[in-house]
Formats: sequence, structure tokens, C-alpha cells
Amino acid sequence: MKKRKKLLSMIVSALAVSMVLTACGSDPKESSSGDESGAKDKLVAGTEATFAPFESMDDNGKVVGIDVDILNAIGDETGKNFEVKNIGWEPVFQQVTNGEIDLGASGITITKERKESYDFTDPYFEATQLIVVKKDSKIKSIEDLKDKKIAVQINTTGHIAAKKILGKSSSKIKAYENQPLAYQEVINGSVDAAIGDNAVIHEYLKNNPNAKLKTIEDDAFEKEYYGFMVKKGNKEVLEVLNDGLKKIKENGKLAEITGQELK
Ligand code: ARG
Repeated sequence: MKKRKKLLSMIVSALAVSMVLTACGSDPKESSSGDESGAKDKLVAGTEATFAPFESMDDNGKVVGIDVDILNAIGDETGKNFEVKNIGWEPVFQQVTNGEIDLGASGITITKERKESYDFTDPYFEATQLIVVKKDSKIKSIEDLKDKKIAVQINTTGHIAAKKILGKSSSKIKAYENQPLAYQEVINGSVDAAIGDNAVIHEYLKNNPNAKLKTIEDDAFEKEYYGFMVKKGNKEVLEVLNDGLKKIKENGKLAEITGQELK
């Protein structure tokens, strides 16, 4: 009799444990089984987080900035969760290609060339390139850069601009992993100028008031538009992002985040 009772209670508790386990496994936030649209509930974005105000690391090691705020606003509209990982600029492209991450969210300019290998969302920010020089520099325009050393972030639109000025394989172009490193070379005097994204340079000068740098605009730098980047053909993620972007354009949230009215 006693033995039977013991057996019964063992079976009951085993059942209880397995029920709890199944319940945990079906938490929708953790699930990667997807919804009707086929997209996962959690989407992983890759970035290079020395690009304030779009992405930087806070004191707790979290990526913060305009790109993160936009993704979270898209998440509010679409029911998705976004995780933003700081992986470095070139890995963003590699990991989108090999599917390790779902999207690139890194102030990425939509270019014709990139569109051959990736798909982009609708634009969310208008930008352009700027020249950065020391305050006492005589450089005034792109024209004055023709025989100068220029620092850029590797494989960015600033790098492309420098190649246009100095020639594709010029040894006068110094390419770095991120934009602050390029600006630092101007401060050090190892290059004459840097070329980088306007909003990011302005933020850098604001945060480094002792840097003794100034900026130069030149109309020859074309307008650029930032978009989120997905693997070519990844319609599910692209649709989620564009759907959310459309909604936050309409309700004013995007303009509130970027401080810019996109036409
Ligand atoms: N907008 C430029 C480009 O797409 C630079 C972007 C760099 N982004 C970054 N998070 N470091 O080439």
C-alpha cells in the first residue's frame, strides 16, 4: 500500500516538472518558431558602436543611440524585440551575409553598390560627408585635399569620397576601424584631414571641446540616406522594418527621435 502511494506521488511530481518545463519553453518572447509573417519575434541587429549619436556604448555596456531608439519604436509598432550587438563595422556586413544577425543597424548609407549585395529599408535619416581639419588649417574645400593625407573609416562612404579625391589606391588615404580613430589622427597631425558623417562629427566635436578641430562643408559631397540592411531576399525582416518605419514616420515618432523631418 505504502509503496503504491510513493510511486503515485513520484509520477505526479514528474508530470508536474515536465509541465513546468513545457510552459517555459513556450514563452513567446523566447520562441524562435515565428509568427504568421514567418519572422522571428526577436531580431538581432549588428552595429559598430563608436558612432554617436547613432550608436555608442553606455556605462553598463549597452548599445544606445538613435538607431536603437528607432528599432525599439519599430518594435512597439510590430511586436518584435530587437537586440543590438556591437560587433564592428565590417563584421556587420559579413554577419548579415552569413545569417548570423538579422540586420545591420549602423548608420549605414544606402548605396547603389551595397544594394547589389543587400536589401535596404526605406531611408530614415539624411546625411552627408564633412571634412574635419585642425582649427588653424588652411584647407577650405575638397579641392584643397588633392595632395593631402586623409583619414577615414574603412569601407564607408567617407572612404569612397577620399578615393574619388586622391585616386582609388592612393597611399595618402589612411583607413581606420572607426571614425573617432580617424579624427584622432587629425588631432595627432599624422594626416591633414578626415572625412566622415556630418551628424557624427558634430557630436564628436561637442563631446571633445578641446580637440581644436573644425568642420568644412562642400556641396560636392552628395546627400546620403541611412537605412537598415538585411540579407538580399530577406523579405520577412525587411517587411517588419518597413512596416514599423512607415508607422513611426506617420505618427511623428521618427522625427522626434532623429530631430529631422524626412521628406
Ligand atoms: N554612413 C557611412 C556609411 O555607410 C558610415 C557609417 C559608419 N557606421 C558606424 N556605426 N560606424 O558608409
